[in-house]
Amino acid sequence: MQEATIQEFIQKAATLVEALPYIREFEGKTIVIKYGGSAMENPVLRKSTAEDLVLMRYVGMNPVVVHGGGPAINRTLDQLGVESRFHDGLRITDKETMRVVEMVLAGHINKELVSLLNTAGGDAVGLTGKDGNLLHAKQIDVDGSVDIGHVGAITGVHSKVIDVLCEAGFIPVIAPIATDGEGNTWNVNADTAAGEVAAALQAEKLVFLTDTPGLLRDMNEPDSLIHQLRYKEVTSLREQGVIAGGMIPKVEACLRGLDYGVRKTHIIDGRIPHSLLLEIFTVRGLGTLVCH
Ligand SMILES: Nc1ncnc2c1ncn2[C@@H]1O[C@H](COP(=O)(O)OP(=O)(O)OP(=O)(O)O)[C@@H](O)[C@H]1O
Ligand SMILES: [Mg+2]
Repeated sequence: MQEATIQEFIQKAATLVEALPYIREFEGKTIVIKYGGSAMENPVLRKSTAEDLVLMRYVGMNPVVVHGGGPAINRTLDQLGVESRFHDGLRITDKETMRVVEMVLAGHINKELVSLLNTAGGDAVGLTGKDGNLLHAKQIDVDGSVDIGHVGAITGVHSKVIDVLCEAGFIPVIAPIATDGEGNTWNVNADTAAGEVAAALQAEKLVFLTDTPGLLRDMNEPDSLIHQLRYKEVTSLREQGVIAGGMIPKVEACLRGLDYGVRKTHIIDGRIPHSLLLEIFTVRGLGTLVCH
């Protein structure tokens, strides 16, 4: 064998060995991954993310996926000619819109992810917050007299169904739709749902896979990544408008998780192939770590 090839082989072994302490540390631990709709758009990336999740499962971790689906919901609503109105960044979700949202999230995206994970060698089970009464919600409070419709705020998490699935070796894949005692359907924010699920499961880690390098100090400046965000810095960064738009529910979910014993929370770039694997199995931290 040529010297260069031997060196490459040794390098491969070194990479595998580097993962050993992380495999040991996270064996039997739960890791909640919020898979953002924006990070889900590219099929090649979807495949590499599925491989990462299956690998995590095979080395003894319990990955739990919560997915978004904003872009796909928008496309379907457009195709069906259902017009969207917004109030404070929230989609006013009347009955018709809710039907489309549930159809896209639970019927299309959720099953596509399940298939992807199964094709990558995993055993995935798709569910919404209705299954096993996983997520309960009530109508979210909004300013003014607007009827926001079926937009829900989570009131409770009954995580037994997730425990049972993880124990049996399945990868749960959760669509962010909730129910309540009356059988209503609530559209809940996927980031918030991920934070609540991570808190209820006392997860080791909560990881957001999104379409930016992490939390940026200046959104137009990819080099301005904030590597580490401390709990106490959040209020001022929100006031300065640094934490804005889609980052607000993510950071809030991180804080909620931390409050309930989640050890580490991360916002990482889902557009980098295998970013999840790199975050979990290597020394180099990717994206933004949100911690105490
Ligand atoms: N300081 C910031 N750094 C990085 N991104 C930011 C910042 N402030 C706001 N954003 C916005 O947040 C977006 C990510 O949230 P977004 O809700 O769009 O995606 P997602 O949550 O991953 O997907 P989905 O909502 O479909 O589940 C970025 O694309 C960016 O436009
Ligand atoms: Mg979002």
